[in-house]
Amino acid sequence: MQPTAVPSNDGSDIALLPGQVSGVFTTARPTFGAAVDDFLNRRPVYEQPLEFPHNIHVGKEIACEVCHEGVDKGPKAGIPGLRTCMICHEAIATDRPRIQQITAMRDKGLDLAWQRVYGFSNDDHVRFNHAPHIRNKVECATCHGNVGEQTIAQRNVEHTMGFCVNCHNERKASIDCLTCHF
Ligand code: HEC
Ligand code: HEC
Ligand code: HEC
Ligand code: HEC
Ligand code: HEC
Repeated sequence: MQPTAVPSNDGSDIALLPGQVSGVFTTARPTFGAAVDDFLNRRPVYEQPLEFPHNIHVGKEIACEVCHEGVDKGPKAGIPGLRTCMICHEAIATDRPRIQQITAMRDKGLDLAWQRVYGFSNDDHVRFNHAPHIRNKVECATCHGNVGEQTIAQRNVEHTMGFCVNCHNERKASIDCLTCHF
């Protein structure tokens, strides 16, 4: 697969989805058709620019926070750009085709346009914040499934209101509408 390229930025921005007008809010269901698929519980196949192997990295005991460095600090976990990859891959596995591919992209000043798997659309008016969950020891797997067994991330947990509110009830976290909505 040829990687989809976007102009390089500071490596922390996430590429816009089709139909998306601002980089601030992203959605896993950018179109009406996708929303219908979601309703019918048909999972889309995420076309990522590169088949990123979570399993290999988690298997090497690289902590999630190494790549998703915002996760314990604020709302966004963040998705790493090539600059983060190259911290390791300048030296690691440089003989493999996929690593040579990303090195060549970096050399051309390009970055990887990852497609979002999880997320709410602006119209959902949902507010989420990772940091308080990590502080309160909610596992990544509770909300994202076992990503360590996946190659590219798959959406296998649905973030419905019931999913959020059930746990907030159990854990005595706020169920005030304005905690999660704006
Ligand atoms: C903290 C270090 C680290 C970071 C950061 C990192 N990797 Fe890796 N990566 C590894 C290690 C270690 C391996 C296993 C190498 C081996 O098989 O010996 C690996 C393996 C891979 C492989 C499999 C290579 C193959 O074909 O066998 C790919 C593809 C890959 N990484 C892509 C990426 C991409 C893309 C990024 C950035 C989004 C990234 N890596 C970030 C350490 C890292
Ligand atoms: C309580 C549930 C919950 C937990 C725990 C959680 N996440 Fe998330 N995660 C979400 C939701 C909801 C979104 C979508 C949020 C949005 O788009 O506003 C998300 C989005 C993401 C994204 C997409 C990029 C971004 O910045 O939002 C990544 C990457 C991510 N999570 C990684 C992690 C990792 C790594 C952990 C554990 C260290 C973790 N998450 C723990 C619920 C959770
Ligand atoms: C070496 C870097 C690296 C490590 C370590 C890593 N990830 Fe990721 N993660 C990525 C990259 C690159 C993507 C974008 C490609 C994709 O969606 O698979 C991503 C995507 C994700 C997504 C989907 C975000 C979205 O909404 O699009 C989740 C959830 C996620 N990772 C969770 C985790 C969890 C949980 C761990 C630890 C068990 C982890 N990741 C470890 C690099 C990493
Ligand atoms: C498995 C349990 C669990 C799930 C699932 C969960 N939460 Fe939470 N949430 C918590 C806990 C625990 C806290 C921390 C409460 C505290 O700090 O007192 C929290 C805090 C929050 C906060 C911060 C409130 C504040 O004090 O600022 C927001 C916002 C939030 N959750 C939104 C969500 C949303 C949206 C979802 C669904 C996508 C979700 N949560 C799913 C357990 C959960
Ligand atoms: C713990 C977080 C949380 C709390 C508290 C919460 N919601 Fe939600 N709500 C969500 C999430 C997540 C969604 C689903 C967004 C999506 O994917 O469309 C949602 C969806 C909705 C929707 C859209 C219809 C639907 O069911 O999908 C409405 C309306 C709504 N919430 C109203 C409320 C009201 C009113 C309250 C207070 C009584 C409230 N919510 C409290 C998280 C929360």
